Amino acid sequence: MASGQLSRAEALACSGCRHACHVMLYCDTNTLLFGSIPIRHIVLPLLLPQMQMRFDGLLGFPGGFVNLSEESLEAGLGRELLEELGVAFQILEEDHVDSCFAPASSPASSTSPRLITHFYTKKMEEGQIRAVETAAVTTATDHGQEVLGMVRVPLHSTKGGGGLASFLSHSFVGNARFQLLHTLLRLHLVAPEELREALARSLKIQA
Ligand code: GTP
Ligand code: MN
Ligand code: MN
Ligand code: MN
Ligand code: MN
Repeated sequence: MASGQLSRAEALACSGCRHACHVMLYCDTNTLLFGSIPIRHIVLPLLLPQMQMRFDGLLGFPGGFVNLSEESLEAGLGRELLEELGVAFQILEEDHVDSCFAPASSPASSTSPRLITHFYTKKMEEGQIRAVETAAVTTATDHGQEVLGMVRVPLHSTKGGGGLASFLSHSFVGNARFQLLHTLLRLHLVAPEELREALARSLKIQA
């Protein structure tokens, strides 16, 4: 377990903490990358995990701050998803993956309430994911405001070190990069060895 990790009950017991919930929506797909069959995906279907480009230029998951005096974690996440994606979702307690203290960002933040981030994953049908991708740029009220666009996470690796490695080399908000890596492993979306390689390459790209 990563440091700062809390059980759901411990997290909820922290009065005086701020809470934020984010989710990784994903699906299996039979759609082929570039319209052809990349060799490594003959057996493994391509998946379409969703992240977003935030207003601050960082990559993150859809979701946001939840006000526990007015809504449950899951209801608050559903509200944020409606604002950011333009689609109503029912997020369930069973979709919850983990909760942890957000990494302290600046000295000034040591005086403000601590932030606990709750992470969820939700598997959907390919059609639902495509509907989200459309709604996010048409009906979502936050499009062009908090959210600049949804992006698919490339899970493949190209010979030149592109694909997942390049994606991981971008800047992520909070511990969203860790949430992504952890989820790819936990859901067996990328083999551990492949992920390790992509991560190592991404660090070289950054350097
Ligand atoms: P506002 O309406 O502008 O307040 O945004 P919001 O309610 O949508 O909140 P936001 O999604 O920005 O999330 C709240 C805080 O959680 C952010 O300030 C980040 O510190 C953190 N955060 C944002 N996205 C992620 C994410 O994908 N993962 C993690 N772990 N933290 C995130
Ligand atoms: Mn929001
Ligand atoms: Mn948000
Ligand atoms: Mn909000
Ligand atoms: Mn908002």
